[in-house]
Amino acid sequence: MNRSAKAGLRAGVMGWPIAHSLSPALHGHWLRRYGIDGSYEAFPVRPEELPDAILGLRNEGLRGTNLTVPHKEAAMALVDHVDATARRIGAVNTLFVTEDGALHATNTDAYGLIENIRAAVPAALESRFGGRPAVVLGAGGAARAAVVGLADAGVSEIRILNRTTARAESLAEIVADQNITVQALAWDGRDAALAEAGLLVNTTTLGMAGQAPLEIDLAALPVDAVVNDIVYAPLETGLLAAARARGNPVVDGLGMLLHQARAGFAIWFGVDPEVDDDLRNAVLAARDRAHA
Ligand code: ATR
Repeated sequence: MNRSAKAGLRAGVMGWPIAHSLSPALHGHWLRRYGIDGSYEAFPVRPEELPDAILGLRNEGLRGTNLTVPHKEAAMALVDHVDATARRIGAVNTLFVTEDGALHATNTDAYGLIENIRAAVPAALESRFGGRPAVVLGAGGAARAAVVGLADAGVSEIRILNRTTARAESLAEIVADQNITVQALAWDGRDAALAEAGLLVNTTTLGMAGQAPLEIDLAALPVDAVVNDIVYAPLETGLLAAARARGNPVVDGLGMLLHQARAGFAIWFGVDPEVDDDLRNAVLAARDRAHA
């Protein structure tokens, strides 16, 4: 990282590659909207440069940064404090420097997933999806955040289905000590696993532009179950279109990105920012420019 001449409060995002990150557009929109004297920059950081980049945060005068691929796991060993949520998820995405100079790390993805659902369908979250099971497709980093978020939100049962069943089984273990029923099920049982569910979340890359579609038959899913796809390119995935067509409430994936960012912005810049249509449109425009 080069020392920047920028004044005011500084934050940013470290990743490799970083050019397609939507975070600068997102935080830049909020900085302008709230009239904050600050900046949010994209820092291209190779994996071998990460230790110096993180240790350099203080000297660079940065309040903190987001971390994206491929740094979310490696950074855990490079900071002074990792909070309990991030430790359970096994990855960090937000760093901040406290007044005593200590480096802290957290993970705001579980918060983002839950707050996105809360904003779209507040009553469903309030009722913990009617006390019915949540079905989580996938077992990668996003699935880990989803399972931790749902367990903390008081969901009574989670069914995890992943192509590689062993990954679903190890994911189930991270909430095993909580008062919750967790099942890791075989990927080919995904149609049947929807019976009686109150929530379906896709955390796989299936359905993303350029990837294979997610093949799932929604027939067994109750029509009042919430369907959330964390894919946001396209915004209306095949899963969401199919769910919407049969009357299920749907929650798209862009909101998770926007809501997870609120937590970092509040820590670095001192304002809990609002997620609204202006922000969504600004970030979608940045997404379209990045993929043009
Ligand atoms: P992230 O950390 O962003 O969630 P990831 O760790 O690469 O990303 O996880 C991608 C998820 O999509 C995984 O659950 C993966 O299944 P595997 O664990 O079996 O790899 C799932 N996925 C990707 N391509 C898939 C496919 N063609 N069919 C089924 N699942 C797929």
